[in-house]
Amino acid sequence: MRTLTSKWTKTLVLLKSNKVRRYIPETRLFNKSSVLSLLKKYQMVYVKPVNGSFGQGVIRVDLQRTKSGSKYRYQHGTASRSFGNYDAMYSSISKSKLKRSYLVQKGIHMLKYNNRVFDIRIMVQKNRERKWEASGYIGRVAHPKKIVTNFHNSGKPLPLETLLERFVQGEQKQAYIRDLKNLGYQIAVHLNKHYPGFREIGVDIGIDKELKPWIFEVNTAPDPLIFNQLKDKRMFRKVIHYARLNGRFRKK
Ligand SMILES: Nc1ncnc2c1ncn2[C@@H]1O[C@H](COP(=O)(O)OP(=O)(O)O)[C@@H](O)[C@H]1O
Ligand SMILES: [Mg+2]
Repeated sequence: MRTLTSKWTKTLVLLKSNKVRRYIPETRLFNKSSVLSLLKKYQMVYVKPVNGSFGQGVIRVDLQRTKSGSKYRYQHGTASRSFGNYDAMYSSISKSKLKRSYLVQKGIHMLKYNNRVFDIRIMVQKNRERKWEASGYIGRVAHPKKIVTNFHNSGKPLPLETLLERFVQGEQKQAYIRDLKNLGYQIAVHLNKHYPGFREIGVDIGIDKELKPWIFEVNTAPDPLIFNQLKDKRMFRKVIHYARLNGRFRKK
């Protein structure tokens, strides 16, 4: 097997790893009671299609408790809607989503750059020695009105060093990036034990206010071209070189 689309299946596999498990936000299949219970526990959750990509169909839901009661709100794309009770909100979400399975996940309050949320893509590929190597990393800044950072959803790729600078500097920043790459490496090795066919993965990682990394998803057909958005082409060249070694651009 070379690709695996179900975010749910991949989450269950990652949860089997003691090293990786602690970085996975609590995740459940979407239904009326799972959304409510995660909302009560975390106040903010993300709802996403089990087989989605490009940030399509991703919904952010939050619960605000005020003196006059609870307010339920959700945002899809750039539009947001507010409700006075959970049932009304749940039926609105159910109507707006497609007839596919979804999951619900603890929402992470991502770090911001120029007031826009950002997250990280770590590329891990098999190299010339057929060993896993974290070959690239890049930051992705969301459009100011959006809740997803995907390049194919108006996100802007920027050097990770630039985005992290406000939060961690110098040698500490380099060590922090090394840890992120190592997390990507651990994920690849673990996933590969369960699914031996993979040669490349792209891990989406969000960082919370305590600088703790959280794994949003693992892509098994990651786009190498996003690295061409960086001015410095060194990472792009390496990622493309490895992608070729792994048969990525071969004609069928
Ligand atoms: N649990 C979450 N908390 C905060 N943001 C999230 C969460 N899950 C996803 N996101 C945001 O939505 C984007 C798309 O979600 P992702 O799981 O990567 O699905 P896709 O396959 O559509 O890329 C992520 O890159 C991130 O910006
Ligand atoms: Mg993604």
